[in-house]
Amino acid sequence: MKNLIVTLFGFFLLASSALAQQVEDFDSIQLYTLTNRQGMKVKITNYGAIITSIMVPDRDGKMADVALGYDRVEDYINAVDKPYFGAIVGRYGNRIAEGAFTLDGETYTLAINNPPNHLHGGVIGFDKVVWGARLTRGSGWQGVELKYRAKDKEEGYPGNLDVTVTYKLTDKNELRVEYQATTDKATPVNLTQHSYFNLKGEGEGTILDHELMISAKQYTPVDEGLIPTGELPDVAGTPFDFTSPKPIGRDIGQEDQQLEYGLGYDHNFVLDKSEGEMSLAARVHEPTTGRILEIRTTEPGIQFYCGNFLDGRLKGKSGKPYVHRGGFCLETQHYPDSPNQPNFPSTILKPGDVYQSTTVFKFSAE
Ligand code: BGC
Repeated sequence: MKNLIVTLFGFFLLASSALAQQVEDFDSIQLYTLTNRQGMKVKITNYGAIITSIMVPDRDGKMADVALGYDRVEDYINAVDKPYFGAIVGRYGNRIAEGAFTLDGETYTLAINNPPNHLHGGVIGFDKVVWGARLTRGSGWQGVELKYRAKDKEEGYPGNLDVTVTYKLTDKNELRVEYQATTDKATPVNLTQHSYFNLKGEGEGTILDHELMISAKQYTPVDEGLIPTGELPDVAGTPFDFTSPKPIGRDIGQEDQQLEYGLGYDHNFVLDKSEGEMSLAARVHEPTTGRILEIRTTEPGIQFYCGNFLDGRLKGKSGKPYVHRGGFCLETQHYPDSPNQPNFPSTILKPGDVYQSTTVFKFSAE
């Protein structure tokens, strides 16, 4: 059927030799476009398994691209301050304290790329490698399956890790992200999707008026370096209470030590659920366009980060600057620093076991 055709483009035009050195198989970088019966369009590249664009209708059927990003692969590779726009983050999403952990009696050291800590898998994490990719389809969806083998000791982690991430765009305006991984040596694994959304459209100002609900009665407060303290306090009575929908900007200016540490919201929320249950983690509503994003996941946590490090210097696809708090991320995950926090759900994958995780981003409008 015509509207189910998946198109495949060579990704962008010129690869300079400097870039070619950073990315060995530059020629194999591709851009894939998924469409569905409702006119939604999602673009994905196998560089970093990045979602580069998500076109969705508003309440009047008007389309806009709600994902922050660039239109040239060079910009992803050279991005100032590495915002991880749209990427798959791994082998470990978020921070590991001082880039060290002990597993089966052995201490492993990782790159300190966010001093004094390790962030998002290291210097060359899964967001900066070229993945193998193939188009795939089923009844009511079309997708891209991406594969990457992280080698033993890559970025300091133990074990060869074989990762498959499948993006599926369904005719119900859902973007499903299915993760799978196996290893030949016990290793921490915590994969997530790092899209920044602005439901008005990328580059259309801040996200402070977006109304957010997070299904979490508790969160994981952090120290100055954004490492969890290990406590799981209630959100009730704090700016972190999103159990009923409220504008992201309502309490962000409150005097609160946690908001000071994060320069705003940059925290993991403990989702109300039983282990492995697929449940509603968050819902975001943008009042002027009526666009809604609902996120369901099998993960126990979600990192709410509201673009505190964006400062207007980066310009996106439409040439508009990405202003401070011009996008939000809701990264489904296990809690940060779990390899050093015995009371958090384990992130250790053992040989013979299969890491499995699913997150669904559903778009609608009212
Ligand atoms: C982290 C932030 C970080 C951002 C971009 C988020 O997942 O929680 O602290 O600045 O990613 O790197």
